[in-house]
Amino acid sequence: MAAPTKEVKEIMSDKITNVMTETRRFEPPADFSKKARVPAKEAYEKLYRESLDDPDTFWKRETADLVFDKAWKKTLEWELPHARWFIGATLNVTKSCLDRHLGTPTENKAALVWESEPGDSTTLSYGELHQQVVEFAAALENLGVKKGDRVAIYMGMVPEVVVGMLACARIGAPHTVVFGGFAAESLRDRINDCEAKLVLTQDGAPRRGKPVALKETVDAAVEHTPCVEKVVVFRRMPDLEITMKEGRDVDWYDAVGQAGSNRQPEPEAFDAEHPLFILYTSGSTGKPKGILHTSAGYLVGTHVSTKYVFDLQDDDVYWCTADVGWITGHSYIVYGPLSNGATCVLYEGAPNFPDWGRFWELIDKHRVTILYTAPTAIRAFVKAGDEWVDKASLASLRLLGTVGEPINPDAWMWYRDKIGKGRCPIVDTWWQTETGSILMTTLPGATYSKPGSTGLPMFGVEPDVVTSEGESADANEGGRFIMKRPWPSMLRTIWGDDERFRQQYWSEVEGAYFTGDGARRDEDGYYWVVGRIDDVLNVSGHRIGTAEIESTLVSHSSVAEAAAVGRPHDIKGQALIVFVTLKPGHAPTPELRTTLKTHVAKEIGKFAAPDGIRFADALPKTRSGKIMRRLLKQVAAGEKTEGDVSTLEDLSVLAKLRDEDE
Ligand code: WT7
Repeated sequence: MAAPTKEVKEIMSDKITNVMTETRRFEPPADFSKKARVPAKEAYEKLYRESLDDPDTFWKRETADLVFDKAWKKTLEWELPHARWFIGATLNVTKSCLDRHLGTPTENKAALVWESEPGDSTTLSYGELHQQVVEFAAALENLGVKKGDRVAIYMGMVPEVVVGMLACARIGAPHTVVFGGFAAESLRDRINDCEAKLVLTQDGAPRRGKPVALKETVDAAVEHTPCVEKVVVFRRMPDLEITMKEGRDVDWYDAVGQAGSNRQPEPEAFDAEHPLFILYTSGSTGKPKGILHTSAGYLVGTHVSTKYVFDLQDDDVYWCTADVGWITGHSYIVYGPLSNGATCVLYEGAPNFPDWGRFWELIDKHRVTILYTAPTAIRAFVKAGDEWVDKASLASLRLLGTVGEPINPDAWMWYRDKIGKGRCPIVDTWWQTETGSILMTTLPGATYSKPGSTGLPMFGVEPDVVTSEGESADANEGGRFIMKRPWPSMLRTIWGDDERFRQQYWSEVEGAYFTGDGARRDEDGYYWVVGRIDDVLNVSGHRIGTAEIESTLVSHSSVAEAAAVGRPHDIKGQALIVFVTLKPGHAPTPELRTTLKTHVAKEIGKFAAPDGIRFADALPKTRSGKIMRRLLKQVAAGEKTEGDVSTLEDLSVLAKLRDEDE
């Protein structure tokens, strides 16, 4: 076991005192429970016990509506740290999402209700979505994509991105969706890391009324990606000028047309552990990790959690506001809801376009019943003012969800009162890119919620909080948040780097999966996640590795050293502040500060641009040369520097940093 560092303890205790005082609890409304899939605490407990004690029976029953070509022979094989689920099963994930609905009333039900940023909407039924996926799968095959080949997707929030993902899944070609906010360099690195053969993109995507030039970014990225053979371009904004490179670039519908009658209505069945997709996320080194998810386990995890956490009923209109470029979009816009035959709203634009009333108008327009969004969005809405909410009725809503970071009880209460009108339960769902599906939550008809707490474990999930000594923590004692057994939708490895997979997740606490988060469990068994305790920040719900920011800054010719830290921010959750020392011959000017912010935006993406850059003559270091981030965090937050500074090389360094501008 890794030696407990003093720093972790200090970070934990700081964070924990902030959320120790919340004691309110909210029972599920009686009329909600009456119709709910899991109507009472006892029912949840019974299912939960069964999921741990008799997983074979539990998973068999709960997946009866999914399509397996061959049933599994064994539920789990666990050879630490590798788990394989549903051994011997074969399936095509898209059959559960699409084909199984054909010939049932769901065939004509809306699968996707798309709302464009300019404000028009179109609907794709399950039948239509199936047709498009079958056609596009044929197009991919016709372009030479084979089972196992990787396909990168760099698109906006249009129905075609869902078609693209499912078409990849249909032919067994793992997709890697790259969020449209990433810059060319980030896109290039991800394409190269997984050696994608093909890129799916679109000309541009409207964002706050202006086009984001996605194709142009792809052009820049694929100049340095020898693996890419073809780029398929969906024309979303035909007036936007783009260049199509002869021999490489293909129009989306030309590709479909060229494939012609090559359609295979019956898709191939793949092994349960066949890779479904890779999704890159940040960790504690400069290099993003390609999180690998496989077919059966991921489908089962997202299917079962969507059904129970959102208490899905046939007439629900479900809206998850995440971008498909993140795991929330994968699991809770695409695979989870579609495998349940749900109607999903897909919104293309910004939450504040044309104004802060857009979300609430959209809920009324499409009669949304379930809203799943992020604390950072909720806090931004609080700040924008209640008048935007008051213009809408919101009478269709029956359930609210949050995800992405700890939600502060004030924002939670606002969400409950202003959006849910006190009538809708809130599910605060904790999970990660790595976990694939929701692992912690309350069930809306069964268990009471506490503002700020993520609640209880989902089925098959065995969490714990352990102290620095590796022991299970007492009630309300903080510690590392871990999972003691594998769950179906867990990551299988890091693409191309199994050693990092072991190191990152399985070496901190023996025999367990370490989440990277700190948490406490209260006297009722409710979990309170306090945030990351590793070198990862959560800025507006985006996971940002401090090392990535630092290495990007150091790649600039003027920068000698950089140290990135988070500072509490009332909307973003955390703001990104970087301390920078310059190479000789460079002056710390406001212009250089702007240049460096732009440099990060250009290299990684706008969402990662530092909120503040402080120039320093030197960074506080221990005698062994380690940067003392704890101190920098306190300096950035304008707090007194507390704790042990006895190992600090030069105390005067600190005093200077305090007076710096950003
Ligand atoms: C990290 C995972 C999973 C989808 C979005 C983010 C934080 C996530 C919660 C929550 C407290 C949360 C954790 C986690 N987080 N949900 N309900 N309460 N913290 O995915 O980028 O993989 O980040 O987000 O710190 O480790 P991600």
